[in-house]
Amino acid sequence: MAVALVVAAGQGERLGSRGPKAFVQLNGRAMVEWSIAALRSSPLIEQIVLALPAGATAPAGCIGVTGGVTRNDSVQAALAAARSDLDPVLIHDAARPLVTAALIAEVLAGLDGVDCAIAASPVTDTTKECDGDHLVLRTLDRSRLWRVQTPQVFTRAALRQALSHSPPGEIAQATDEAMLVERSGGTVRVVPAPAENLKVTTPLDLNLAELLLSRRVD
Ligand code: C5P
Repeated sequence: MAVALVVAAGQGERLGSRGPKAFVQLNGRAMVEWSIAALRSSPLIEQIVLALPAGATAPAGCIGVTGGVTRNDSVQAALAAARSDLDPVLIHDAARPLVTAALIAEVLAGLDGVDCAIAASPVTDTTKECDGDHLVLRTLDRSRLWRVQTPQVFTRAALRQALSHSPPGEIAQATDEAMLVERSGGTVRVVPAPAENLKVTTPLDLNLAELLLSRRVD
């Protein structure tokens, strides 16, 4: 059985909200509650641990810990509070409230034979790499590019190895833990996921998430 770590300790400056992003109201619920509901409806998840802003209370039935300065600090704080017998470890951003139980099951199934499986959607735009002056260096082959999301699922051994063997500077810079697994020589598989599993960063994303959630048929 799996443990789910939900990182919800970010401040969300780009959203311009008054409080932490995970607690912004979204169609009648705090944003983080949508992810918790999806994780709770999954029979594969045994425990949910939340990394929260200082002073926030975990919803009933979840373990709450105070998050850290970086996203990875928050992941590590949640991992330290999780039951150590549960494997694999699923990591999810509270900023992705449109996650579904179906996607959770697909990513968990994707872990078969690899160290890490991550939700991602194919890149549909032409994508260019530029230098610091915005001059194009090259056009990337978009048929091989994926926009990475969460959930991300790890064997406990691979996550432990990636976190304990990566240099601290690399860990601080990592925008996800899959990156650390790649760099430590582990295998990472992409599991195709809908673009609707968007990350709420800006007010536009919040409006889109509201619209998509309001159209959901439960
Ligand atoms: O800032 P960004 O949207 O990339 O954050 C992704 C997720 O990581 C969010 O759910 C946010 O709450 C979480 N986070 C955290 N602790 C931090 C920074 C971000 O739990 N120090």
